Amino acid sequence: MTIHTAMTPSLAAQWVRRCAAERSRTAPPPGFAPLPDLPPGRYLDADFFALERATIWRTTWLYAGHIDQLPEPGSYFVWSHGSAPVVVMRDDDHCVNAFYNTCRHRGAPVVRQAAGRAGGALVCGYHGWSYDRQGRSLGVTDARDWTTTAPPCRDLVRVRCERFGNWLFVCEDPNAQSLADFLAPMARFLRHLPLEELRLVDRCHFEVACNAKVLIDNFLEAYHFKLLHPRTSDRIFDNLATSIHLWRNGHSLMLSPNRRADWVDPGTHGMPVMANTTAIERAHNPSYSIFPNLILPIAPSGMPFVTVWPKTLRSSVLEVLWFAPDWGGGPRDPLWETRIANFARIVEEDIQFAEPMQATIESPGFCGVPLNYQERRVYHWHEELDRCIGVARVPAALRVTPRLGSYVE
Ligand code: FES
Ligand SMILES: [Fe+2]
Repeated sequence: MTIHTAMTPSLAAQWVRRCAAERSRTAPPPGFAPLPDLPPGRYLDADFFALERATIWRTTWLYAGHIDQLPEPGSYFVWSHGSAPVVVMRDDDHCVNAFYNTCRHRGAPVVRQAAGRAGGALVCGYHGWSYDRQGRSLGVTDARDWTTTAPPCRDLVRVRCERFGNWLFVCEDPNAQSLADFLAPMARFLRHLPLEELRLVDRCHFEVACNAKVLIDNFLEAYHFKLLHPRTSDRIFDNLATSIHLWRNGHSLMLSPNRRADWVDPGTHGMPVMANTTAIERAHNPSYSIFPNLILPIAPSGMPFVTVWPKTLRSSVLEVLWFAPDWGGGPRDPLWETRIANFARIVEEDIQFAEPMQATIESPGFCGVPLNYQERRVYHWHEELDRCIGVARVPAALRVTPRLGSYVE
């Protein structure tokens, strides 16, 4: 198999042909064996949920924010989806650092707001220990009362923070591979796009009363478009021509062609578009997935990130963030209000189904999850989940049998 390292015209043409082949097939390809059912306990078992929390949500790179949220030295926001709150802050050299928001004295929060700008130093409000914008100790209050020869100046504990385009990711595992290596299997197909020129347009979130994997699975397949989105996604995208691309590290792509190749969303008319787009972005919905929880459907004039975060076994937060090419000075295009609302309507169509599912999967009638050829992206995600947890740690009854290795490109 040829390993492509970037989106080229020949690769774009090859991907377009793959969609045409998907459209014309009448059965799964020869040799595709049925996938074993996913065990229901993966969605219901409290111990399995605890295993997930201790592993993928601690050891993988996770989206934290966009550089626009840190406009000047001292700007910070607090990211709260990991094991503990993390401060992400721009320093005086315009580098971005992350550290636990936990004072090295008695553990008080060093910053008290979700976002803001620190002055010259971060000062803990409890006893006044202070830190610089990289989290390094600047000193303690009443040093005379510390009996050691030197006061116990301790830096805030750092969390890894690396950048992809203008997006900031954090990882709590000091031994994890770099963000660049982690993303490489999918990022090579975005390299032609001017990701560093994208600005943050909007953020909103939804509290959803279901297990996070119910939502994550949903965003990994187009099988539901016809019934859940008859007036939105299904009118625009041809789900039967969708091709699935599986990559290492659990990443993947669901490429759905527009039903009409010349269709352009009228709600984006006049908006700036990214340079260097190909037929893949112009005439398809290329919906990338960054493992474990980030869905990225790209259009030339902008893209949402859909991120899903587990809160409890039975509740999640879904965040939608929008990014777009620089629109210059002044406010964003007024068309954005409608564009954002239209996408939120699609997300609400998904949520309105996911929440009742939480009750119906907690039923003796939920005996396992069969997945079809087009849904294999969901299976790929679950295979990666077990690899991240460590297969030996997953109870045998809850394991997913690795089956898709030969389909990973
Ligand atoms: S807990 Fe921060 S200075 Fe005491
Ligand atoms: Fe959907």
